[in-house]
Amino acid sequence: MFNRTGQIVYKTARRIVIAVVGGTILLIGLVMLLTPGPGVLVIAAGLGILGLEFAWARRWLGEVKKRSGKALDSVRQNGIGKQRRYFSFQQQTLHYFSRPHSKVLRQPVTGKAAWTAEDVREDSQWQYSLNAEQISELQTALETAKGKFKFTQALTKNDFPLPGLQPLITAWRSNIESGLGFQLIRGIPVEQWSPQDAEIFFWCFGLHLGIPGAQNPEGDLLGHVIDTSDGQPDTSKRYYQTSNNIAYHCDAADAVGLLCLQPAQQGGESRIVSSISIYNEILTRRPDLINRLYRPFLLDAHGENGINTIPIRPCRYYAGQLRTFFHSDYFRSVQQYPKVGPLPEDVQTLLDEYDSIANSPEYYLSMDLHPGDIQLLSNHTILHARTAYTDFAEPERRRHLLRLWLSFPNRTGFTGRMRKLFSKTQLAGSLIKAKLAFSRH
Ligand SMILES: [Fe+2]
Repeated sequence: MFNRTGQIVYKTARRIVIAVVGGTILLIGLVMLLTPGPGVLVIAAGLGILGLEFAWARRWLGEVKKRSGKALDSVRQNGIGKQRRYFSFQQQTLHYFSRPHSKVLRQPVTGKAAWTAEDVREDSQWQYSLNAEQISELQTALETAKGKFKFTQALTKNDFPLPGLQPLITAWRSNIESGLGFQLIRGIPVEQWSPQDAEIFFWCFGLHLGIPGAQNPEGDLLGHVIDTSDGQPDTSKRYYQTSNNIAYHCDAADAVGLLCLQPAQQGGESRIVSSISIYNEILTRRPDLINRLYRPFLLDAHGENGINTIPIRPCRYYAGQLRTFFHSDYFRSVQQYPKVGPLPEDVQTLLDEYDSIANSPEYYLSMDLHPGDIQLLSNHTILHARTAYTDFAEPERRRHLLRLWLSFPNRTGFTGRMRKLFSKTQLAGSLIKAKLAFSRH
């Protein structure tokens, strides 16, 4: 009799505890739906606990899993609605390397993109500090976006309205595409925001500039530049996941954007250089090697998807525009593969000349990024590098930047004829076959 009563008491108490704990977590999850974040996950956790005792909770949990899975798949593959939200890694790489070409350029390039350090050091055109009114507009837009109750990467430009800033954004994009090739924007109030707020802001800000794209084959759209190596050498880490020096290179997107949340304790200086000015200098120093810049160099693909190397032509010239892709480390590291062996002498010489000019204080510009700074760079006319750095001891004070890769769909200089010539099919033949596996940098 006592045992039977005890069992009833135990079952009732278990039911009550599960109902209270699971119900509380479910309630918290429902409240969290009112703010962008992992509300769905908390709801699922609450239903999981309730499901230990209640059949209705198990049914609801199945439904939540099914619907959230479908929604995420849809967002990942297509975005939401008719507007294209972002490029896949392949789409973006194809777009970036669709560089029209007509002839080898044998004259120095003139214009804003051909800058040296002295030209831009005192120039205010590339630096912009937001005023109180503009920051207030960003704040309002952020609240509007949060009120949409969407996953961050499902948010659209219209969810983050910036009517007052539009003329400036247009000017910044123009500067990146056809001006100096870089822009620094200061004053984003990240220190007043949660990390989630900063992510929402940067994603939506990027949508106003271009089309965000995947930064690796895994499809990451909003990157976190942070040292996750814990000081241990780990060859599986990508360069931006370490505190090591990163040599001059381009990323495979029309532009790259960084939002600084936290600087390093020491080091981590950003350096940029005009690839147009380097080209002009090589024309002076070694005109005999210019042709070689228009022929393929092998790029190290690190064996991803079974591909070790991909042939890439560093320079393309068309309709007055010179576009360069350069990657000092990965053009050199292909020598590790027995089938490649030592680099040809002309390639070795060009890489050394390129690095020598890029590392000359006469050519490069240094930038210290502070919390709230956004750096935007063209990957067609600018090379970027980063010095090694030391983090603060506290994990929460580690250097941390958010990163976007952006495509400009209406890039200038791409005519109908060249569009046909560099059609997706043709590029797919040369690039997709090679698995496009060079996202590491
Ligand atoms: Fe990079």
